[in-house]
Amino acid sequence: MLEYYTKYLDYNMSDKVIFSGVQPSGEIHIGNYLGAITQFVNYQADYKSIFSIVDLHAITVWQDPGALKNSTREVLAIFLASGLDESKNIIFNQSQVPEHTQLAWILSCTARVGWLNRMTQFKDKAGKNRENASIGLYTYPVLMAADILLYSASHVPVGEDQKQHLELARDIAHKFNTDYNENCFILPEPLMNKSTTRIMSLRDGSNKMSKSDISEYSRILMTDSNDQISLKIKKAKTDSLKMPDTLKGAETRLEINNLLNIYSACGLIDKEEVISKYASREISLFKKDLTEVIIKTVEPISIKTNLLLKDETYLDKVLREGASKARVIADKTIRNIYDKIGMISK
Ligand code: TYM
Repeated sequence: MLEYYTKYLDYNMSDKVIFSGVQPSGEIHIGNYLGAITQFVNYQADYKSIFSIVDLHAITVWQDPGALKNSTREVLAIFLASGLDESKNIIFNQSQVPEHTQLAWILSCTARVGWLNRMTQFKDKAGKNRENASIGLYTYPVLMAADILLYSASHVPVGEDQKQHLELARDIAHKFNTDYNENCFILPEPLMNKSTTRIMSLRDGSNKMSKSDISEYSRILMTDSNDQISLKIKKAKTDSLKMPDTLKGAETRLEINNLLNIYSACGLIDKEEVISKYASREISLFKKDLTEVIIKTVEPISIKTNLLLKDETYLDKVLREGASKARVIADKTIRNIYDKIGMISK
């Protein structure tokens, strides 16, 4: 057993290590899948990879306890159904590794109030009722920095909405290193899928597809049935023109551009090729084919997810084992950081 762990402990600062997280705060949509999860799957062979279902992040807004447990298992099932290998990667839910919150406290003494005040996601999520938002929602990016820095992650695959949080993680790491005159933390780099880094809502091409959008027609879920996918694409907002015939032409039409990005990513076809295939044709024809391409991507994952969800014992075992592997690394980091900042520990 120890030998197995050493494999994970064995990396040093020059290794390429990935960390990323997904919140179990709602159902996973095709934006999460194309923007983040496909990257996890593609990079798992080349990086030491650690993926967390970040349940402590989810409770920054109230969650029904039963639903949170179900969503945590569902995110794990989607990870596995999408092709993440639990024997090669570390996969766990955040709350089983208490070192995340330990490091978050230390880093909250490094991060500056002015830095957090600039976070646009807090402003969006808290809205007009900022005084009533939880303190957790405000300090959330510090916990996110702790998630990443705990494992000396060199790279973080995410969608564009997390870029600012990642820059903050770099600022915190840099200040900590300067304050303690040590190179304790490496500065993580984001990894983004160019065309899918921001999948937009199907109802409004100027808003990103989001778990919290009130309209269920704004997103395709990774557990949607074929009929639901078909209906959502039929209802997806577009203009009444014909399909564009150039990339430039596509880019001026938000909704069509978004659907072309989804087609290209799901069908693994270059966007230019998709544009030339449908150039000047009816949008309805494109939508019909798009539905098929999406179903081809989502259906196998959804079938596998539903099968995995029947075996809670197995899913909980994957999380438990992932957490014990993660804790070996996390504990080492915390001991090192405690020592550097002057804490006496075991
Ligand atoms: P979350 O749970 O909101 O989203 C999970 C991942 O999906 C990406 N994403 C999208 N990508 C493209 N288009 C979209 N419409 C879209 N919506 C979401 C997100 O960018 C993310 O990569 N704070 C993070 C979770 C987190 C984390 C971390 C990530 C906690 N700790 C450490 C990386 C490293 C979040 O709320 O993601």
